[in-house]
Amino acid sequence: MTADAAPRGWVYFGDNLPILQSLPAESVDLIYIDPPFNTGRVQARPRLRTIQAESGDRVGFGGRRYLTVKLGHQAYADIFDDYLAFLEPRLREAYRLLKPHGSLYFHIDYREVHYCKVLLDSIFGRECFLNEIIWAYDYGARTRRKWPPKHDNILFYAKDPRHYTFNYEAVERIPYMAPGLVGPQKAARGKFPTDTWWHTIVPTNGRERTGYPTQKPLGILRRILQASSNPGDLVLDFFAGSGTTGAACLELGRRFILIDNNPQALAVMRQRFAGLEGIVWVVPELPETP
Ligand SMILES: C[S@@+](CC[C@H](N)C(=O)[O-])C[C@H]1O[C@@H](n2cnc3c(N)ncnc32)[C@H](O)[C@@H]1O
Repeated sequence: MTADAAPRGWVYFGDNLPILQSLPAESVDLIYIDPPFNTGRVQARPRLRTIQAESGDRVGFGGRRYLTVKLGHQAYADIFDDYLAFLEPRLREAYRLLKPHGSLYFHIDYREVHYCKVLLDSIFGRECFLNEIIWAYDYGARTRRKWPPKHDNILFYAKDPRHYTFNYEAVERIPYMAPGLVGPQKAARGKFPTDTWWHTIVPTNGRERTGYPTQKPLGILRRILQASSNPGDLVLDFFAGSGTTGAACLELGRRFILIDNNPQALAVMRQRFAGLEGIVWVVPELPETP
């Protein structure tokens, strides 16, 4: 890429509200956000590395001993006194920034989704609500005291419910559950996904994994981008975390704006996009720690 070619993406470090306020109205085609879920916890994930060591407590191939060492951990606080008051001005900015045919995907969990739906209805209008997507997975601890919650909710809104981007043909199809019932041609083509998406979490040892807590799978973002944006479109994620939205945009030829205020998210994104040209880093100088 030459120096004067258009950027493929911008990564901003800082609180998203003033950054959103500085962006021009009706400038983005699609917004995906995955804000902290207000779990009341610090979301943390240790960074581990397994090394060969005589003192190791795990025995591997050829009787070699291995030790797991903790390199540090990545974390952000997911605790809010007034969660909706935090979200509301940011969602109002999201609405302002969307182009007339644009749409919003808002990723949340079962504890907050109903409050967020009411808030988003008040900003977008109830008629602009198109879907509640259920992302179902099957991983992690299971309570025995109630039905184990194993899904996230993704609310899908269009700014104008009569005219919005939705590329039915561009979405990757999935296998039928009972292919024998639909005939060989249909079975070979696969079916269009419904509003219930079965998808694994980011595999713990997969290449995709960055180690950032609450990282979302690329497969979920790919499907959203295929349906609700076109090549060259500008996609905004202002709770970017490990930059999954940016990684999906790079794969599918969309441009992106990512924002996060956690220095660890910034470090993960720098590593994830290392060596790629055309990414603009908007990072104010951090104050020196005393
Ligand atoms: C659930 S995580 C996003 C994970 C992301 N979808 C991924 O795949 O890695 C939420 C992110 O929002 C960021 N965040 C929270 N409050 C913020 C704020 N006021 N401004 C910018 N980022 C914020 C956190 O640092 C965290 O990285």
